[in-house]
Amino acid sequence: MYERKDHFYKKAKKEGFASRAAYKILEIQKKFGIWKKGGLILDLGSAPGGWLQILSKEVGEKGLIVGVDRSPLKISPPLNVRFIQTDIHSPDIAFEQRFDCILSDLSPDLSGIRFRDTYLSFEIASRVFTLAKQFLKKNGNLVIKVFPGEEVDRLKSEMKKHFERFATFIPEATRKTSSEVYLVATGFKGAAHV
Ligand SMILES: C[S@@+](CC[C@H](N)C(=O)[O-])C[C@H]1O[C@@H](n2cnc3c(N)ncnc32)[C@H](O)[C@@H]1O
Repeated sequence: MYERKDHFYKKAKKEGFASRAAYKILEIQKKFGIWKKGGLILDLGSAPGGWLQILSKEVGEKGLIVGVDRSPLKISPPLNVRFIQTDIHSPDIAFEQRFDCILSDLSPDLSGIRFRDTYLSFEIASRVFTLAKQFLKKNGNLVIKVFPGEEVDRLKSEMKKHFERFATFIPEATRKTSSEVYLVATGFKGAAHV
């Protein structure tokens, strides 16, 4: 059981963010400089909408964020946000443009059975990596939340081949009881790179 009403939960409530997750992406940005003003961002697993609220302000009116989630948002999307309600495993998923940055805060529905949850998280992360290879611009950046495990180690090795730089990061705003980490890959070498 986690302490639901901890510091970041209360801070998010007070500052009007849809989720505590908002603070995690700000920490990632501070450390790695993932996006720029005016950028085009794909936010996978965007409900209830905490990251969208942050990203909307960060990219400004010249930027655009496409959010994807199978659940509805709990915020009214700002003007520079387009939201698509769908499952990321859907074979029909496609975008008209490539993105400067792809972020995934996707989490499977947790069962509490560690190996099951870890495997589902790996499946999601792999799908995100596949989408990134299709829809990330050259030199673009990718952030994927995942629960660590053996399969994830293989995914990391694969990601390292396609990006200039790679790091694993645990934001302060992550619940102390959570094992989640963020894979941060910057400088995509391009779709043609093998
Ligand atoms: C931790 S929440 C994301 C929080 C979000 N970043 C925010 O700031 O509000 C994880 C999200 O992943 C979504 N999700 C999990 N599996 C999915 C799938 N296969 N397709 C689409 N969305 C999925 C869930 O519906 C949930 O909204």
